[in-house]
Amino acid sequence: MELRIQEYSADLLSQIQSFECGTDDWCRHAERWIKSAPPFRGAIESIETHGNKVWLYFVDVDVFDEKYLVGFSSLGKVKWKIPPPDGLEREAAFIPMLAVSLRFQGKPEGENTKHYSDEIMEHVIRVAREQGHRELCLYVHEDNARARRKYEKHGFSVLGSKNSKGNLAMLKVLDNQLSEGGQPSALESGPRLGDAAAL
Ligand SMILES: CC(C)(COP(=O)(O)OP(=O)(O)OC[C@H]1O[C@@H](n2cnc3c(N)ncnc32)[C@H](O)[C@@H]1OP(=O)(O)O)[C@@H](O)C(=O)NCCC(=O)NCCS
Repeated sequence: MELRIQEYSADLLSQIQSFECGTDDWCRHAERWIKSAPPFRGAIESIETHGNKVWLYFVDVDVFDEKYLVGFSSLGKVKWKIPPPDGLEREAAFIPMLAVSLRFQGKPEGENTKHYSDEIMEHVIRVAREQGHRELCLYVHEDNARARRKYEKHGFSVLGSKNSKGNLAMLKVLDNQLSEGGQPSALESGPRLGDAAAL
């Protein structure tokens, strides 16, 4: 089933109140974030205060004329210290939050089938590239093995050690020279790991 992408807006809030993505702390945090539950204004604050983009991904089920929220992603920018040999501080694209509904995690099933989470990752990475960024970064809890595995599969590498909240910074080097079909060229590579840290 194809994903329908919709930019987050407050009038969609009623459609996402049943969103659940797990029981771990980071899942609860992601749920509160996307629901913009007061006093924690998560996604809304991310958009209004930081100018970030937030997208919702739906599947429409014709038979029951129903639509389901599969997941969400977001994109902004931060000042980031890039690892050696470059070592410079510059603006990088940043994923503040991303999650897939429990119901759609690991789906659709089947060999050589792209999961919804992969489509969502590809969408965010594509937009970061289109915005002209050279790096894309994010934080993930060190114990969130499933998310870490997902990010690694999409070319992210861990940078340095965890911060005081147990979060690891991960970075993907983007190649903005898109080859035909919008796919990254063979030049794309992971970052060189160094002692750089997020600012
Ligand atoms: C992280 C998330 C987006 C991944 O999407 P998903 O559809 O569940 O991902 P997949 O099912 O494709 O699993 C990703 C990989 O982790 C592996 N995996 C599954 N459960 C795992 C576990 N408990 N420990 C380690 N790896 C695990 C899968 O086998 C898969 O690896 P593979 O492609 O080599 O087979 C989704 O699980 C989610 O929203 N989690 C809750 C919110 C969250 O953690 N957001 C990220 C915050 S940084």
